[in-house]
Formats: sequence, structure tokens, C-alpha cells
Amino acid sequence: MSEPHDRSVVLSGVEHRFRARDGEVHALDRIDLALEPGEFLTLAGPSGCGKTTLLRLLAGFMEPSSGEITVGGRPVRGPGPERGVVFQQPTLFPWLDVRANVALGPRLRGAGKAERAATADRYLDLVGLHDVGHLRPYELSGGMQQRAQIARVLAADPDIVLMDEPYGALDALTRERLQDELLTLWRETGKTILFITHSVEEAVFLGTRVLVMSPRPGRIVLDEPARFSSDEAQVPPEELRALPAFTETVARVRGAIQHVEPPPRRAG
Ligand SMILES: Nc1ncnc2c1ncn2[C@@H]1O[C@H](COP(=O)(O)OP(=O)(O)O)[C@@H](O)[C@H]1O
Ligand SMILES: [Mg+2]
Repeated sequence: MSEPHDRSVVLSGVEHRFRARDGEVHALDRIDLALEPGEFLTLAGPSGCGKTTLLRLLAGFMEPSSGEITVGGRPVRGPGPERGVVFQQPTLFPWLDVRANVALGPRLRGAGKAERAATADRYLDLVGLHDVGHLRPYELSGGMQQRAQIARVLAADPDIVLMDEPYGALDALTRERLQDELLTLWRETGKTILFITHSVEEAVFLGTRVLVMSPRPGRIVLDEPARFSSDEAQVPPEELRALPAFTETVARVRGAIQHVEPPPRRAG
């Protein structure tokens, strides 16, 4: 972990509007938010509320219409190696096998052969893909490709990991396993994580802070501390999910989302 105190992420008055063919889409409205190093932020909200837009701005794939985003005090002007992005859809290089995809980050930062192999082993193990490292991405199922993408991003060792509904397409068992593995990795490394999810339980289970965004234009309408993932008590996950404190937090987050969910549109 490098200079953890130089890695605060700060959004000040961040607004975003898209120019669309039929007018303007006001996606984000004055977002003020600070991510402290080592925080695990989870972000939920109705679809179309601007979650992915927020992530793309943090990643530096585009600039906000107004406001500013800084990382470690420096304005974000584009992507950077300290920020890793896990997309909703798996993104892998089809001409490299899975193992070489995972080892790409270490290779790009000039790691030697032994270190590249050790890193690839570690992250292939983490996502349960050790046996398929020799295959090409297109030979894997969608869920396995997604796990490979996660391994590739984590192996590059970014201080800040931005994840856009990374587990949305995975079966329940794989999802729970990867949740636990991500928490272990986070506790060990102190990375800052922003994790977007549709699942309120997942948001509460993983996050040290749970954010809820309103429908367009996206604003943060709930910023709720959660401690379940940082608790060193090591309550087994299935027991944890049954704790009254857990179910109450879930209810509060769900209430915030439902409260802001627009009423169903009438026909005609
Ligand atoms: N490139 C784009 N051009 C125009 N509108 C966009 C573009 N990307 C996203 N939007 C719109 O911005 C809003 C927020 O989208 P998005 O951030 O993807 O929401 P979420 O991830 O919460 O589902 C939506 O109304 C979406 O249609
Ligand atoms: Mg999205």
C-alpha cells in the first residue's frame, strides 16, 4: 500500500449533464463527497440515477460538466494507475490467456517473472480460476470472465478500486464467496473501494458507508455508516445477516431507495 494518506478522493459540487439527441440529460446534481483512504463505500439507487456516471467521472473517463474531483489533492484529468475499474461487463484482452490477462498489471509496472507468476497465482486463486488460467477469455462462461476481470484489476494493485455492479451476473454461491474474498483482501490491503450494487443486502454487508442516490438528477439522499464488514468480531456471514442491527440497516437503506423511487408510469 503506497502513501495511504495521499489517496483521499474528493468530489466538490460535481454535476453532470449529457447532451442527447432529444435534449439534455441531467444525470448528476451537485455531488459533494469525500472518500477516505481505506473506506469501503457501497452505492445503491434506482437504475438510471447516475451511479455509473459517477463511477466514470471518478475513473477519469470523462470530465464533470461542473465541479471538481481530486485524488490525493490533484484534479482528476483522466484515468490513472491508482484507480482500477471493474466494469459491469467483463473486459479482457481476447488475445491473451486468462493468466496473462491477470498478470498484465504487474507486467506493465515492470514486475519480474517470479513476481508476475506469484501475483497471477494469488488472484486466480482468489476468484477460483486457477484451473483455467491457460484458457482464452472467450472459452469461459460470462461469470468466469467477470471473475477474471476482477482478478486482473486487483492484480494491478490500485489503491482505489471502482466496481460497477461487479457481481450482478454471478450465481448466489459465487457471489457470496467473492464478497468474502473481497472483504479479506480489503482488510489486508486497506484499499479504498467504491462498490455499486443493486442488492441492498450486499451494500450493507460490504460497506463501511452505504450511499443511496435519488433518481435523475442523481443526488446522495442517504449516507449511512455500516460496520458489519469492518467488525473484527468475525461473526460468520450467515449469522451476521440475521443480526437485528443488520436487518434494521437493510430496512433503512431499502426505505431510502423506495422513498425516492418514482411512481410507476401510467400507460398512455
Ligand atoms: N453517454 C450518454 N449519453 C446520454 N445520456 C446518458 C449517457 N450515459 C448515461 N446517460 C443517461 O444518464 C442517466 C444516468 O445513467 P447511469 O449513470 O448509467 O445510471 P445508473 O448507472 O444509475 O443506472 C440515465 O438517464 C442515462 O440514460
Ligand atoms: Mg449503471
